[in-house]
Amino acid sequence: MNIIDIINKKRLQQSLSYEELDYAFSGYLRKEVQIYQMSALLMAICINGMNDQEIIDLTNIFINSGDILDLSSVEGIKVDKHSTGGIGDKTTLVVAPIVASCGVKIAKMSGRGLGFTGGTIDKLESIPGFKTSLTSDEFIQELKDLNMVISSQTKELTPLDKEIYALRDVTGTTESYPLIAVSIMSKKIASGADKILIDLKVGSGALIHNMDDAKKLATIMQKIGHEFSKKTEIIISNMDTPLGKNIGNSLEVLEAMEVLKGDFDNDLGSLCILIATKLIGLAKNIDDDAAKKEVLEVINNGSAYNKFLAFVKYQHGDINALKVSDDTITIRSDQEGLIKHIDAKMIGEISMLLGAGRKNKDDLIDYTVGVVLHKKENEYVKVGDVLCTLYVNKIKNDFDIKKAFLIE
Ligand code: URA
Repeated sequence: MNIIDIINKKRLQQSLSYEELDYAFSGYLRKEVQIYQMSALLMAICINGMNDQEIIDLTNIFINSGDILDLSSVEGIKVDKHSTGGIGDKTTLVVAPIVASCGVKIAKMSGRGLGFTGGTIDKLESIPGFKTSLTSDEFIQELKDLNMVISSQTKELTPLDKEIYALRDVTGTTESYPLIAVSIMSKKIASGADKILIDLKVGSGALIHNMDDAKKLATIMQKIGHEFSKKTEIIISNMDTPLGKNIGNSLEVLEAMEVLKGDFDNDLGSLCILIATKLIGLAKNIDDDAAKKEVLEVINNGSAYNKFLAFVKYQHGDINALKVSDDTITIRSDQEGLIKHIDAKMIGEISMLLGAGRKNKDDLIDYTVGVVLHKKENEYVKVGDVLCTLYVNKIKNDFDIKKAFLIE
């Protein structure tokens, strides 16, 4: 076999066999295939796509590139959730304690953010002392003790995804739905849960920009789940505008805690309740109404909030030491009218420039900075009303954030 023939086949829109995909991708992990060759293959895949069999084969190759977490010693159905990423998405911090309080085990390995999208691990690390790196034994023990655990992904799990993801990020090949499906599903399957819920984000602040691609991605992810005997449910949610009000690591932890304390009558709360309801339904085989009743009960009786506090303590975090910057810039409207749109991508980029996100993989982030929206879409504003507050630290700049608000 020859890597150039494989690249040419994909360039000519022909499909690749399991052996050819394995030769190229496993060869890349072993450093037998060069970075420029893999870059060319990824671009050919990005342009010409993959058929279902190729996507399933490549998922298999990704899973088998590393360890598979065995959760069979933990009793009961284990669930996992994944979001394809967006601005202000702190749903995991809310959903996991709710699900665990309902008696369902939720085992989640999460990633860090890159660029303008945030990652759950960065948000958790904004809590002083919080330990995100766990051994497999620690991961399993916490799942048994608390019904929930969230850790960073170990090096041993799907190492091929790590290599390919990093290369996609710098070769303009992130927005390929077959490659997204392989990346997400291989990680979820290797993480050991029985049932999976994917929150697929669509919009300007997401990887997927239109409904057509979202539907194709949803269908293939369900097919992959079925192939590996992991029931997979997909919800599609909007990412044209930020989710919730706070963007930035510590700020997002604070907002998640507010939802858990009962402030859920808003976009963030509604999405968290929907995801938790679906996960409970999947695990207990009950309908949405019965599952939602359980979800609301554990929020209203305080057990979900207490579960969050217990989880933070278990992973050595000190929630009372959580800090946001006390240096702020207030942004006021110079127009009167209805807020027609708040651009998720622009808000995410400004938050990143303030220090809340990384431009490059190894950049340090500032947990204390970010943006708090005081107005959301479809609210009316007068001249002088506060649109948002920037929490700043070293970079004291408003980056003309008003441009993110379309007021008419
Ligand atoms: N999230 C992932 O883990 N992988 C992708 O390719 C896109 C989003």
